[in-house]
Amino acid sequence: MKSLFAVGLWTTGFLGLCALTACGDAAQNSTTPSTKAQRVRAMNQVIDHHSYSHPQEARIAHLNWDASIDFNARTITGTATYDIETAEDAKRIVFDTQNLTIHSVTADGQATEFTVGEAQLFLGSPLTVSIQPDTRQVAIHYTSSPDANALLWVEAQGDRAPFLFTQSQAILARTWMPVQDSPGVRFSYDANVRVPEGLMALMSAENPTAITSDGVYSFRMAQPIPAYLLALAVGEVEYRSVGERCAVYATPDLIDKAAFEFAEMEQLLLAAESLYGPYAWERYDLLILPAAFPFGGMENPRLTFATPTIIAGDRSLVALVAHELAHSWSGNLVTNATWDDFWLNEGFTVYFENRIMEAVYGRDVSEMLVTLSYQGLVDEVDAIIDLNPDDTHLKLHTQGRDPDVGMTAIAYDKGYFFLRLIENTVGRERFDAWLSGYFEAYAFKGMDTEYFVDYLKSTLLQDQTDRDAVRLDEWIYGPGLPDNCPAVASPRIERVDAALAQWEGGDLATADLPWESWAYQERYRFLSNLADDTSTDRMAELDATWKIGSTGNNEVLFAWMEQAIRSHYTPSYPRVESFLIEVGRRKFLTPLYRAMKDTDQMDMALDIYGKARPGYHAVATGTMDGLLEWPAAGS
Ligand code: BES
Ligand code: ZN
Repeated sequence: MKSLFAVGLWTTGFLGLCALTACGDAAQNSTTPSTKAQRVRAMNQVIDHHSYSHPQEARIAHLNWDASIDFNARTITGTATYDIETAEDAKRIVFDTQNLTIHSVTADGQATEFTVGEAQLFLGSPLTVSIQPDTRQVAIHYTSSPDANALLWVEAQGDRAPFLFTQSQAILARTWMPVQDSPGVRFSYDANVRVPEGLMALMSAENPTAITSDGVYSFRMAQPIPAYLLALAVGEVEYRSVGERCAVYATPDLIDKAAFEFAEMEQLLLAAESLYGPYAWERYDLLILPAAFPFGGMENPRLTFATPTIIAGDRSLVALVAHELAHSWSGNLVTNATWDDFWLNEGFTVYFENRIMEAVYGRDVSEMLVTLSYQGLVDEVDAIIDLNPDDTHLKLHTQGRDPDVGMTAIAYDKGYFFLRLIENTVGRERFDAWLSGYFEAYAFKGMDTEYFVDYLKSTLLQDQTDRDAVRLDEWIYGPGLPDNCPAVASPRIERVDAALAQWEGGDLATADLPWESWAYQERYRFLSNLADDTSTDRMAELDATWKIGSTGNNEVLFAWMEQAIRSHYTPSYPRVESFLIEVGRRKFLTPLYRAMKDTDQMDMALDIYGKARPGYHAVATGTMDGLLEWPAAGS
């Protein structure tokens, strides 16, 4: 099967009703594009190259999931029963699946024909189910594969119970649920899940607060969400409230630390609401996952999933929580229509994150963070631009590729600086009011880049002088960083750079570095800008004086370890190895293994990777197998 299907995305209901629902609501708002051409464009189908479903014929509206989690077999067996909406002449409904075994399918309770098409790389197989135009419900009984890419089954260890978590974004939901796996298709859900006794099950939904005696849990997500926000975790976790609408969930060994670390969650939530309007998801809780989680955080609605590596003991890494919380508006309310529009999710979220950080911790802190991300962005642009300049555009072209290729600093930080440029151009007050209006007008809807540009031009950048100042097309459809990128200034970071230059020039002794008074951002800047050829003697001096190799802040530790590898500073190698075996966060793995590769230490890289790989999530091994040319790659 070669052809992919167009996906309508402008409404949570059937596309034929679009003019009356999504687009209609928006049209009542005088700040929304209302020319006929714009409305017609909005109603046009946006193509999602990463889904087989063609919701303009038949689409899911509600999921009822009944499932059993089998830790021994490493499978999920369940029935996904969908309420569906159909076009007048609908004959089939198509789901995305990957490595699922389909046992049976019914339409309105009667057995019906179905076919599972040939699998394609990244996309899996279409499951095509025969229906009638008046079919209202389709039920699929299935079992997932033990190798399902979304799932990580963490084995029991010592007195640690086993753990299971999912990571569905971008297109992995289809490995554990037959679903229309396109960000433009939204559905509400409820679920009944059976897990081994003694474990708790949690979802991106209304959640339990205690372990049940029979291992049975039920869930409800009333707001419609796209499939990439479907999430499940099963483990021995405890619940601890940290505010009126906020709580943390973590394993018993981490629950106290987590409750302390994230005690400020409710403040972040209040700050977010006062910036861009009411929180739409009722509760905002945080689940601390095993260290194998391949990301820093994932914005599963009502329950952010997070890596334990943000527990530093001093609340210094909460920006990640601000980021995932911000997605409750940018991403979870207004959702990128396709993965080529990923910057609409992440760029807006980084902007919003930064505004939350500024509101709660002050501009001093938020500008340090922006300065660090600016450096990361410039490095990333340099790394990508010659190989694939198109991948430095905000609007991406990922057809035929894994959408994961879009997860670079371009979507995040080029997106951020673009929005900051608009803020600078129109003024903060106007920009904030506009952004609140945008979230309100397009809540629970999809947004693509072209529609966004129309909306922006007709509601905020009406003046030619403002458009000339911003240069939209260059930012969105052009390579690299345009020369009107806003400048950032962080005096604290500048002082670090000066200290580093003095220290490297021999004018400042190691003992005279103001290490103790530096926040983690300053320490990180210092370590990540050490010269590649820093000698082992100087590394030893830093380590002995400031105990950097044993810091509890994982960002600082990471920067240290990367430099240790590049400097061949072997006393830190055991820590590098234990870190890489324990932690599966890709943002740390990639630079550490790459540093070994760059410095002819492939033996060490392969030795460590061989031990660590069984514990990593597929998202991480997917990247690392390629980087290290792992022989089993592709399996
Ligand atoms: N939604 C992303 C994670 C993601 C993106 C998963 C694309 C799969 C595909 C999440 O919000 C995120 O951006 N996480 C960052 C942290 C953030 C502070 C930049 C991460 O995990 O590094
Ligand atoms: Zn994000």
